[in-house]
Amino acid sequence: MSTAINPTAYNYKVVRQFAIMTVVWGILGMGLGVFIASQLVWPELNLDLEWTTFGRLRPLHTNLVIFAFGGCALFGTSFYVVQRTCQTRLISDRLAAFTFWGWQAVILGAIITLPLGYTTTKEYAELEWPLAILLAIVWVAYGIVFFGTITRRKTKHIYVGNWFYGAFIVVTAMLHVVNHASLPVSFFKSYSAYAGATDAMIQWWYGHNAVGFFLTTGFLGMMYYFVPKQAERPIYSYRLSIVHFWALITLYIWAGPHHLHYTALPDWAQSLGMAMSIILLAPSWGGMINGMMTLSGAWHKLRTDPILRFLVVSLAFYGMSTFEGPMMAIKTVNALSHYTDWTIGHVHAGALGWVAMITIGSMYHMIPRLYGQTQMYSIRLINIHFWLATIGTVLYIASMWVNGITQGLMWRAINDDGTLTYSFVEALQASHPGFIVRAIGGAIFASGMLFMAYNVFRTIRASNPAQAEAASTIAVVGAH
Ligand code: HEM
Ligand code: HEM
Repeated sequence: MSTAINPTAYNYKVVRQFAIMTVVWGILGMGLGVFIASQLVWPELNLDLEWTTFGRLRPLHTNLVIFAFGGCALFGTSFYVVQRTCQTRLISDRLAAFTFWGWQAVILGAIITLPLGYTTTKEYAELEWPLAILLAIVWVAYGIVFFGTITRRKTKHIYVGNWFYGAFIVVTAMLHVVNHASLPVSFFKSYSAYAGATDAMIQWWYGHNAVGFFLTTGFLGMMYYFVPKQAERPIYSYRLSIVHFWALITLYIWAGPHHLHYTALPDWAQSLGMAMSIILLAPSWGGMINGMMTLSGAWHKLRTDPILRFLVVSLAFYGMSTFEGPMMAIKTVNALSHYTDWTIGHVHAGALGWVAMITIGSMYHMIPRLYGQTQMYSIRLINIHFWLATIGTVLYIASMWVNGITQGLMWRAINDDGTLTYSFVEALQASHPGFIVRAIGGAIFASGMLFMAYNVFRTIRASNPAQAEAASTIAVVGAH
């Protein structure tokens, strides 16, 4: 591979790096998920060490799966998609390399500081201020590379996938900076600039939009490129993609208060969040329908193409979790679901079913092409992975529904004299079988990632540098 900058070739080096790290962080993040799920079954696994307790490893799990696994997938695919749809090389190789190494440094920082107990305590924004600043700098570089590349495009239109990636980059920057405003008192400790209910509102404005923009809008960008590509069909409706894009980004930003029902947050704000969440069903399903209908006339391909199956099943889970979410946002439903495993089940319907599955499908499409191969080393292994992922997700979600509803009902049951029917420990004991099933489902899902790693390794090994170099040549004419 030549190291000189070649304007007639795409920068695939950074895409390859992010793609490989997606698989690596996926294995580690999900492996840690299985470990903390097992801690809930066998508390001895906390090992009586402060660094390995559930409370410290849980945020490490969320940081690794969302920012390391999901983040690398978003960086990698967005750099791939923006180059191919704009028919031009990334605007700067150096800045792109900085985003890769800077992002890995942030993740390494999380792996060191979170088990040591350094945390802002804000969910999904736990990293203390030095790491938060590094993250912001990397993000600005990301924005420059992404939008700079769009300005250099050789095509007239900006493909819709780039709109979604673009919104995800801009809004994530805004959320991160506003929610992280804090007063450092030492190198490892800071206090939020906000207090009380305002602090809670800012945090869940951030938290919900981390879901809406990081875990949804970015992955919709992925969906809009890889689903039509793998199905070899144009996107079902370009018009629908524009309408649901604007509706989605306009509505998501208001829905945060559904995380704070029945709290000190003003009641009108809770009701507004509830109403916006219910309306959010429409643009969410707009995206799901647009993706699904792209398969019109190509449904038969699902029989033979496990990559397409990953992509379509991810859309089904996206549709399911964006139906469940608005229901859970209704205050009376939330009165039952809040604090229970139902929320955890909803999270993983989105996280495993949607985020992980769309990522895995997209990687199986993209990785061989990055290395000048026509397909992955083994289609059979992709098929096995597909079933492990699907069965794992279903076991995870189903066990958490049963647990969640059981917990909610047991906590609210009262005797005639007004005393509680069940103690908290009784509800915990009733949850134990569900915890076991979740740990098994999670282990099944995570084991699929090992098959993926082997398949990726063999695919890369089958390629030689000349093929990899040739793969990145920008076609003068032709489809993206
Ligand atoms: C093998 C796969 C996985 C397993 C076994 C697993 C397991 C777990 C467990 C045990 C928890 C803590 C639940 C609790 O506090 O009761 C958790 C939380 C969480 N996980 Fe996973 N996880 C997996 C994959 C993922 C992936 C791929 C993502 C995201 C893309 C993800 C995102 C989250 C989030 C956001 C939370 C926090 C939920 C909340 O606070 O409501 N997980 N996970
Ligand atoms: C229209 C779409 C959606 C709506 C209206 C929605 C709504 C909700 C509601 C009401 C909760 C429970 C809040 C609570 O009781 O504390 C929740 C939790 C959550 N949802 Fe969704 N959801 C949607 C889609 C998704 C998707 C697609 C994902 C993942 C990719 C996701 C990830 C999460 C996470 C991570 C939490 C847990 C937050 C926490 O407490 O730590 N949601 N969502």
